[in-house]
Amino acid sequence: ARLVVLVSGSGTNLQALIDAAADPAYGAVIVAVGADRDGIAGLERAEKAGIPTFVHRVKDYPERTDWDAALTAQTAFHEPDLVVSAGFMKILGGAFMQRFEGRIVNTHPALLPSFPGAHGVRDALAYGVKVTGCTVHLVDEGVDTGPIIAQGVVEVADSDHEDDGEALHERIKNVERNLLVDAVGRMAREGHRVDGRRVLIPVPTA
Ligand code: GRF
Repeated sequence: ARLVVLVSGSGTNLQALIDAAADPAYGAVIVAVGADRDGIAGLERAEKAGIPTFVHRVKDYPERTDWDAALTAQTAFHEPDLVVSAGFMKILGGAFMQRFEGRIVNTHPALLPSFPGAHGVRDALAYGVKVTGCTVHLVDEGVDTGPIIAQGVVEVADSDHEDDGEALHERIKNVERNLLVDAVGRMAREGHRVDGRRVLIPVPTA
């Protein structure tokens, strides 16, 4: 399967996918990495791995829909089977959603449907939950509302309240990277279908 990965930051989830995809048995190849900003480690990681990159900044377009159209066209050019939003901090537009419907995977650092949005780790901590984690899900029109593919659990420690969730987010990301690699690999190798809110990935026959 062909993957386009979208990033906005450090790209450690991207790196995990790059490392996994180095093995042909993984079943997926990253054909391009896209970003909404320059100068991020995520783009460097892609370049280092010899993967083509593209950047579309919202502020370079007169309207948000123009940005969306450009991102959609450039992503489509690479003919992905799956698009992976791995720490991509922009909400995808209608054209993008339509073009890649049911094939966009996002990772979120909380146990959805709790704590959607840009501050999932902090919000969970502030709420006082004792377990949180991460969710790999399909993207729909809402913010972090799409059908869930996989989840991982991380316990909250009392000490997590001392640093605004930084240590907690690091522990979540350790689980998140493996969860994302596993889910995307299974989808790439086995395919997936959506039944209501459920994402079903066939179990491989031995
Ligand atoms: C991940 O925790 C992702 O879920 C969140 O931002 C983080 C991205 O980390 N929204 P990285 O850029 O993959 O290192």
